[in-house]
Amino acid sequence: MPTKNLLFVDDEKMVLDGLRRALRPMRKQINFHFALSGKDALEIMDDRDIHVVISDMRMPGMDGAALLQETKKRHPETIRIVLTGQADDDATYRAVCVAHQFLMKPCEPSVLKTVIKRACMLHELMTHPMLKKAVSALDSLLSLPSIYVQIQEKVNDPESSVEDIGKLIEKDLGMSAKVLQLVNSAFFGHYKKIECPSKAVHLLGLNVIKSLVLTLKVFSGYEGTEMPPLFLEKLWHHSFETAIFAQKITETLTEDRELSDSAFTSGLLHDLGKLVLASNMPSKYQKTIQMASKNKKELRKAEFRVFEASHAEIGGYLVGIWGLPGDVVEALTFHHRPHQYPGKEFSIPAIIACADMIAHELSPEECIGAIPSIQESNLKAIDAADKLHEWRSLCTEIKERGIE
Ligand SMILES: [Fe+2]
Ligand SMILES: [Fe+2]
Repeated sequence: MPTKNLLFVDDEKMVLDGLRRALRPMRKQINFHFALSGKDALEIMDDRDIHVVISDMRMPGMDGAALLQETKKRHPETIRIVLTGQADDDATYRAVCVAHQFLMKPCEPSVLKTVIKRACMLHELMTHPMLKKAVSALDSLLSLPSIYVQIQEKVNDPESSVEDIGKLIEKDLGMSAKVLQLVNSAFFGHYKKIECPSKAVHLLGLNVIKSLVLTLKVFSGYEGTEMPPLFLEKLWHHSFETAIFAQKITETLTEDRELSDSAFTSGLLHDLGKLVLASNMPSKYQKTIQMASKNKKELRKAEFRVFEASHAEIGGYLVGIWGLPGDVVEALTFHHRPHQYPGKEFSIPAIIACADMIAHELSPEECIGAIPSIQESNLKAIDAADKLHEWRSLCTEIKERGIE
């Protein structure tokens, strides 16, 4: 991997010195840069390619949120991480729309090293510069118009409970993804790997959710986009079905609750890359969809022709820079090529691939272009050839009983 440039910004020299010492062993792979203010940081970034910036929030002059906002504008492809001492600080709050990840001070050197290694690796994986820029600069993900309106009403209603709002957020892919991003980061002091949207909403609490919706406007409505609402409705339905199927399939293989939860979240988010493309490049994506439908091609193949990457890599990159758990990142990235996933043992990407295919087979009207299929040899490679029949019956039974 070529050497990466990483910039730390903190107004306390002692903090920077501590980081310099802690990260010394990584000097061969990464050039570390240090800045004592937002102004100095911008000068460094204008001067050389900085791949990852990790900034304190409370700083005199330009604070961390303002710095990350400016970074997003000037250098959209840079991965932006917050390292803060105060989770409920105003600047941290304002950083919700511009930061990819939140870390809490003091941050264990081992955690910091993992985050840095991962961010550099992801930067390397997403090779297409235009796409990298588009995903890193993503403002917000589109939401279903009906859910968006209901959410606005609910947060304005003093009688609403966090459960009511959680139930609504759970019905929308973009909103679910956003709350999972926040809860899986150290945002507002939480540093747990919660992998279900309703749990995430509960943990963030009513006041935070209200601010996210009303003040920070992190959820995005549908005005002015060329994407037909039906696209989002179908995507949501397919994502939810895949999530349930993946969870139930996993339960037949293991009693490990964490794995079945992870399969659910991975299933829910597996096609998030489609939402990224629909939110970010609607007219180009709409043409791609039309091309796949007209030629009866798999959508991901049409995406490759247009964007040089499919929704799988794009979704994986986004949740990766958000700091979601590694198995979720891998499941998204490899869900159309599970046989290439390097993990040999029990593999969530393989389960998502099968759940995805079964969901499309059972609801063909929701599929754009050809149904994604897995070749027999690849099914054998992921150890699913003998089980697929049983999984199909299980999912058919679940669907007949009714999913929602
Ligand atoms: Fe997919
Ligand atoms: Fe899918």
